[in-house]
Amino acid sequence: MRAFRPSSYPAIRLKGPTLQGKVAVITGASRGIGQAIGWELARAGARVVLTGRDEQLIGELAGRMRRDGFDALAVPLDVRDEASVRAAFDRVGQDYGRLDFLVNNAGIAHKLSPVQDLDPGTWREVIETNLSGLFLCTRYALPRMPDGASIVNNLSVAAQGMWPGHAGYNASKWGGLGLTNTLREELRPRRIRVIALLPGPTDTAIWEQFMPERTRSKMMAPETIARAIVDCLALPENAVVEEIRIRPVTGAI
Ligand SMILES: NC(=O)c1ccc[n+]([C@@H]2O[C@H](COP(=O)([O-])OP(=O)(O)OC[C@H]3O[C@@H](n4cnc5c(N)ncnc54)[C@H](OP(=O)(O)O)[C@@H]3O)[C@@H](O)[C@H]2O)c1
Repeated sequence: MRAFRPSSYPAIRLKGPTLQGKVAVITGASRGIGQAIGWELARAGARVVLTGRDEQLIGELAGRMRRDGFDALAVPLDVRDEASVRAAFDRVGQDYGRLDFLVNNAGIAHKLSPVQDLDPGTWREVIETNLSGLFLCTRYALPRMPDGASIVNNLSVAAQGMWPGHAGYNASKWGGLGLTNTLREELRPRRIRVIALLPGPTDTAIWEQFMPERTRSKMMAPETIARAIVDCLALPENAVVEEIRIRPVTGAI
């Protein structure tokens, strides 16, 4: 049996998370949690690919990151559009040759509505973005991901809870958790870590879409969520934090 050497322990802990040179694609990186994840991954040494529908916004963000000395590229991507997804991951393959971290973060909510009044077009848009988008990005990223890579799916506490009026959002996130859990089992032989991220209320613009009256100051900061992800990704690659459940310490907001 190998002897435990306490002297090596503090040295390892003091180094802090380093993801030096890892290539990371983040969907929905233009603002909110996605943007915070982009910054946090870049600070940890990753080469970040910022994606989103607003080409100008992600271009400006990548420019700001490069001026701060980070390695960042902007690639337009609409997660609902298969051709756009395929083109974005082809570009990542051409530019970097591989993809170490996929962060499926893009998502939308919808105006609160009971099922009987929920607009079918809204239902389809939410499912296409939050669930089919998750599938499409994963589908086209995987061939570029080496053994030992990682996937983080930003779901929500709504993937395990239910709130009246949120049927489209809840269904998309429950579906996302089902997809995430299946994917984790499929990818174990390749040692690809699949992490379900389940945040509670976080102070971003998404709240304008369904509950604009909620007090943002009681919510978590997007940076808190981003730090939790980077800490999990920086763990030894033979371990996976399967679920990150993170909420404001006060619980309900
Ligand atoms: N904030 C919370 O309390 C909270 C809690 C739990 C989970 N979440 C989840 O966290 C994720 C990020 O949300 P957020 O709170 O940061 O909201 P946000 O500020 O509204 O950001 C959403 C991001 O998704 C992008 N996006 C939306 N539709 C897209 C599409 N079709 N293709 C590509 N990108 C798209 C948006 O970019 P463009 O519109 O510019 O394309 C934006 O960058 C979502 O999946 C959300 O469900 C949020």
